[in-house]
Amino acid sequence: MNELVKMLQKAAKDEHAAVIQYLRHAYMLGEGEEACEIEAIARDEMRHFWMLSRWIRKLGGTPTIERNPVDLGGTAISDWMHRDEEAEKRAIALYRDYIAHIKDPALKADIERILADEENHREIFAHLAGKFRRLQSAEGRVPPQSEAPSLLPADREALEWGVRHEYTALLQYLFHSFMVKDEEASRQLELQAINEMQHFGWLAEELAGKGREMPLEPHPADLSLEPSSMLRADIKLEQDTIRKYEHFIQRVQDAKLKKLLTFIQNHEMYHEGLFKRLLSQLQG
Ligand SMILES: [Fe+2]
Ligand SMILES: [Fe+2]
Ligand SMILES: [Fe+2]
Ligand SMILES: [Fe+2]
Repeated sequence: MNELVKMLQKAAKDEHAAVIQYLRHAYMLGEGEEACEIEAIARDEMRHFWMLSRWIRKLGGTPTIERNPVDLGGTAISDWMHRDEEAEKRAIALYRDYIAHIKDPALKADIERILADEENHREIFAHLAGKFRRLQSAEGRVPPQSEAPSLLPADREALEWGVRHEYTALLQYLFHSFMVKDEEASRQLELQAINEMQHFGWLAEELAGKGREMPLEPHPADLSLEPSSMLRADIKLEQDTIRKYEHFIQRVQDAKLKKLLTFIQNHEMYHEGLFKRLLSQLQG
């Protein structure tokens, strides 16, 4: 395989890991200014993943939804921030090395643009690590990981299944958006992937708010390359999900969670209809 494609795939797997690592930290922090700041960085990493995947496609490669390892270590918030800063330092070193080897001016400009973001992220994480370190020493202890509030088994199952599903849908639709040539279908798949990322965030935040770790592994995704097979797989995923959410809506105890699942299920119904329309247009 093309050496450049391999380099970009490695970077894409790192970006993917950064998205998940930072979101995990943001959700565990809960509400607040710092959590918002970290979530915004995770969105930047998502954009980097998107930019790299487009280049992989442009250079004749296949974008990857594999992920490099996520750093799950650390019990204090300052320690998480320090680990995030370390991840940024690794990214900075990698992209500096890439820039020295890349000849295509447009690709070089994109990597330089990503590098500038990483340098900014590194500074933010260094600042946050210092801030939380001072807070901890002022309190003389690590801020408590909130005593886990009670979470009924049915509610927990719904949240955990939902997080894994939304993660899968997000990756699958992004992958399909990169591979499909039809412009309208590609744009729509990308938009719905962003919507699935919102669902992922709502459910993962809910789970973290109850003091539970969010699942880090998606369900298996469909990586079809032929446009109508893609859309058929996407329609099936939505249909299965609508049924699964219906099952959870009947069982969950928490009224707020029931409302959230019903809201999300409604989006999934829209997705199903949209994908059916796109499929018939493609076949038209
Ligand atoms: Fe990045
Ligand atoms: Fe970054
Ligand atoms: Fe969803
Ligand atoms: Fe959906």
